[in-house]
Amino acid sequence: MHAIATALVFALAGAAFAQETVATLRAGTPLAEQGDLPQIAKRLNTDLRQVRNYPEQPPLIPHKIDGYQIDINVNKCLQCHSRAAVGDSQAPMVSITHFMNRDNQFLASVTPRRYFCTQCHVPRSDAPDLVENTFVDVDQVLDYVAGAKSGDN
Ligand code: HEC
Ligand code: HEC
Repeated sequence: MHAIATALVFALAGAAFAQETVATLRAGTPLAEQGDLPQIAKRLNTDLRQVRNYPEQPPLIPHKIDGYQIDINVNKCLQCHSRAAVGDSQAPMVSITHFMNRDNQFLASVTPRRYFCTQCHVPRSDAPDLVENTFVDVDQVLDYVAGAKSGDN
C-alpha cells in the first residue's frame, strides 16, 4: 500500500512538472480558455524565385495560388507549368523528375505521384517562426567541412 501511494505521489509530481515544461503553441493560455487568435499571415507574392536551402528542396511558390483548383478534372498549376504551356506562360517547366514513375521510367505526361503540386510546393507568408530553427544551409556545411580538413575549425 505504501509503495502504491509513493508511486502515486511521484506520478502526480511528474504530471505537474510536465505541465510546466511541455512547449505548446497556446503560449500559456489555460486549456479551457481561448487565447487571442494570431493574425493570419500575409501571403508573399513577390514573383521572385527563391534560393533553395538544399538541392532537392521542392522550390517555394513565389506567387499567390488562392482558388487554384487541383483535382481529377483540372490542374490549374499545369495550365502554366506543363511542358506545353511554358511558351505562353513563361513559367519554369516542371522538372524531368515530375515525369518519372516509381520505376524511374519517364512518362509522356506528369506522373500521378507529382500531380498534386501543393503536396510538396507551398506558397510563402511573412509569418513569424512557430518554433526556433537552427537550420544551416548546405554551403555553410561544406565550408565548415573544408575548414575542418584544413584545420581552421
Ligand atoms: C498563371 C500562370 C501560373 C499558374 C496558374 C501557376 N504558376 Fe507557378 N509560376 C508561374 C510563373 C510565371 C513563375 C515564375 C516566377 C513568377 O513570375 O512568379 C512561377 C513560379 C513557380 C514556382 C517556383 C519555381 C522555382 O524554380 O523557384 C513554383 C514552385 C510554382 N510556380 C508552383 C506552382 C504551383 C504549385 C501552382 C498551382 C497551385 C502554380 N505554380 C500555378 C506561373 C504560374
Ligand atoms: C512529391 C513532391 C512533389 C510534387 C507532388 C510536385 N513537385 Fe515540383 N518539385 C519537387 C521537387 C523535390 C523539386 C526539385 C527537384 C526536382 O526538380 O525534382 C521540384 C521542382 C519543381 C519546379 C522547378 C523546376 C526546375 O527545373 O527548376 C517546378 C516549376 C515545379 N516543381 C512545379 C510543380 C508542379 C506545377 C507540380 C504539380 C503538377 C509539382 N511541382 C508537383 C517536388 C514535387
